Amino acid sequence: MGNAVVTGASRGLGRAIAQELAERGWTLVVDARHGDALAEAERAILPLVAPGASLVAVAGDVADADHRRALVAAAHALGGLDLLVNNASTLGATPLPSLVTYPLDELERALRVNVVAPLALVQEAMALLRRSARPAVLNITSDASVEAYEGWGGYGLSKAALDHLSAVMAVEEPSLLVWAVDPGDLRTQMHQDAFPGEDISDRPLPEEVVSDLVRLVEAGMPSGRYRLSDLRSAPELALGTPHP
Ligand SMILES: NC(=O)c1ccc[n+]([C@@H]2O[C@H](COP(=O)([O-])OP(=O)(O)OC[C@H]3O[C@@H](n4cnc5c(N)ncnc54)[C@H](OP(=O)(O)O)[C@@H]3O)[C@@H](O)[C@H]2O)c1
Repeated sequence: MGNAVVTGASRGLGRAIAQELAERGWTLVVDARHGDALAEAERAILPLVAPGASLVAVAGDVADADHRRALVAAAHALGGLDLLVNNASTLGATPLPSLVTYPLDELERALRVNVVAPLALVQEAMALLRRSARPAVLNITSDASVEAYEGWGGYGLSKAALDHLSAVMAVEEPSLLVWAVDPGDLRTQMHQDAFPGEDISDRPLPEEVVSDLVRLVEAGMPSGRYRLSDLRSAPELALGTPHP
């Protein structure tokens, strides 16, 4: 298949994406800030890695330029980069505050992690991506980018910026596939943090939905913003040709 960098892969959706890609033969570079949890994820994913493929875990914060350089250097050492998955993200301030009371330092941090870091990673990786036969960037967005949910303004505006960044980049770089995908509500730590004390057991686990996301990648769907729930019924995915 190809080589991918997946950010935020120690748990939740990022880990499910890394697992699914590993099972489909991809070589992976993965990250998360906390080394212990990342090492545990690495141990769990390693047996799924196909013969001839590899998995490299690099602990660090996507908001840190040195760490971003290390991720791209790891991909370079593995032979190149075909897919960058910008999945790592922060909710911002919790409990979710209204915009007029939003702590601005936390808003700036959310923008650094959710918007600036994904763009900076593309910039860092662009020379390597250009060498791929079909380079792609998958940015994980949210319905909060388009819906005005009370309390979700900080996170939502960061995801709206990520959507717009994805759309403009797709126009500016026609040789690059750029997808912004809203995965829908998922049973993860981030979702529980957004709804503290609430029962979120009715939301699907990331593992239950991730194959649709990876089929979008491997089918080489056109650049654009997608909702995972819509992709489930997309006939193009059934007919999609595999990623080289
Ligand atoms: N869950 C949902 O319902 C939902 C809905 C819509 C969109 N999304 C989006 O889906 C994506 C994944 O969310 P999730 O629910 O799976 O979140 P999650 O369970 O909180 O997992 C986030 C992952 O990202 C890592 N991470 C967080 N900040 C990071 C940073 N600055 N640098 C590097 N790694 C970082 C975390 O590990 P460390 O803490 O160790 O860094 C963890 O591995 C996000 O983009 C989120 O906005 C989720």
